[in-house]
Amino acid sequence: MTTIVEYLSENRDRIQNDLKDFLRIPSISAQTGHKGDCLRAAQWLEQRFLEIGFKPKLFPLSTGHSIVYAESPQIAGAPTVLIYGHYDVQPVDPLELWTETDEKPFEPVEKDGFLWGRGTSDDKGPLYTHFAAAEFWMKQPERPKINIKFMLEGDEESGNSATEIFVRENSELLACDFLALSDTVQFAPGFPSITCGLRGVLSYELTLYGPKQDVHSGIYGGVLANPCNVLMEILGRMVDENRRIQLPGFYDDVRRLSEEEELQIHSLPFDERSFYATLGVNGGIGEKDRIPLERLTTRPTFDINGITGGYQGEGGKTIIPSKASAKFTFRIVPDQDEDEITNSLKKWIEAQIPPGIHMDLEVGGGAPGMMVDLSRPCMKAAARAVEFGFGRAPVFIREGGSIPIVGTFSSVLTPNIMMLGYSQKGDNAHGPNEHFSLADFERGIKTNVKLLQELSAL
Ligand code: BES
Ligand code: MN
Ligand code: MN
Repeated sequence: MTTIVEYLSENRDRIQNDLKDFLRIPSISAQTGHKGDCLRAAQWLEQRFLEIGFKPKLFPLSTGHSIVYAESPQIAGAPTVLIYGHYDVQPVDPLELWTETDEKPFEPVEKDGFLWGRGTSDDKGPLYTHFAAAEFWMKQPERPKINIKFMLEGDEESGNSATEIFVRENSELLACDFLALSDTVQFAPGFPSITCGLRGVLSYELTLYGPKQDVHSGIYGGVLANPCNVLMEILGRMVDENRRIQLPGFYDDVRRLSEEEELQIHSLPFDERSFYATLGVNGGIGEKDRIPLERLTTRPTFDINGITGGYQGEGGKTIIPSKASAKFTFRIVPDQDEDEITNSLKKWIEAQIPPGIHMDLEVGGGAPGMMVDLSRPCMKAAARAVEFGFGRAPVFIREGGSIPIVGTFSSVLTPNIMMLGYSQKGDNAHGPNEHFSLADFERGIKTNVKLLQELSAL
């Protein structure tokens, strides 16, 4: 049997080239023009699973994107781990900002110990670390007594309910004792982590309609409600000076930090100055009585993601516009109820609509916040695996981002969810020049190899 260290040194180039092949497929799930590419990415995975002796199957969903399911040869009586990841990626425009890949986000480049390109960090690179670990074990004369299933989706980045329906309808196929994923991030360089909680997210689009067409603001100003003004007034009332969300009942169910978590979060290093400096800003905002790490990971938020209406062209145009709209999201935390918030939001907005305006509130995808219980034996096994892979024990953190399907996993499949992120916060996920450290990539593969051994022994 070869060790994983020997294996990596012998297979380094092949593994990197294979990942690059996967990265070259522009599987952008949000853009319908890339449907064919999403299918190609799924088929690429299917083919690779066949090659390592797994049994793959594609399940097309209502979105047009397929779930890639694959399982190892069965070992009777052994426990099962389900590995989750997503092969879809975010849109890439504007291309001119992709300076590290010569404006070609889907032509990955290796430079300075990093791999650059869309999907390197979120989530093709991390997903591949699990595939590489499975391949490693399949090539050994003996492998750990554990059954491995993969469920890789192509809809994570566009947020909808198709994957959730799939999981609910296929809970037998997906049945598992443990669930592992690497779609999260490390706390900081040098701080490998296990993520023990995620925020959820609720998305909306509010459109306000005024007069049936744009009208002269001199002739009508003073009597006619302006949709742009009203939109700003309403959304402006959403948070107070202390950045508390003003929807009635919004905080009622917010889970409080345990004493242990409070201590943990205060013990982690957080350099505010360099945090803001790397983003090119001179400071931040938020609830005054809470430290930034607490606000970033354990508190709900409200953010307008885009806002539009009226005249935005060259020069001026004195009008009362006929329409204005905004897309906005709440990040929510464990125990907050999606439907209660949406109902409260509808009532709260309706009560503020003046005569002459009518509204349309579109409710988009939703996902609950979630937490995993650190006292579970699999969490200690995962910590041992990280220590093996990274040469350092992990810190346990909650994260502010969302992976919509994970809440469903914990209620339908298993509470034993291990979120082992290998990416860094500064990898530019979703932005231009996305990259992934090749050292972390290999540490991730080592961690996953060890994790399968550890879990088989539980
Ligand atoms: N991998 C991220 C989520 C993430 C990021 C978790 C950082 C923990 C730390 C995922 O691909 C993502 O971007 N999710 C979206 C979900 C949304 C589109 C519904 C998010 O969080 O905005
Ligand atoms: Mn992701
Ligand atoms: Mn993402």
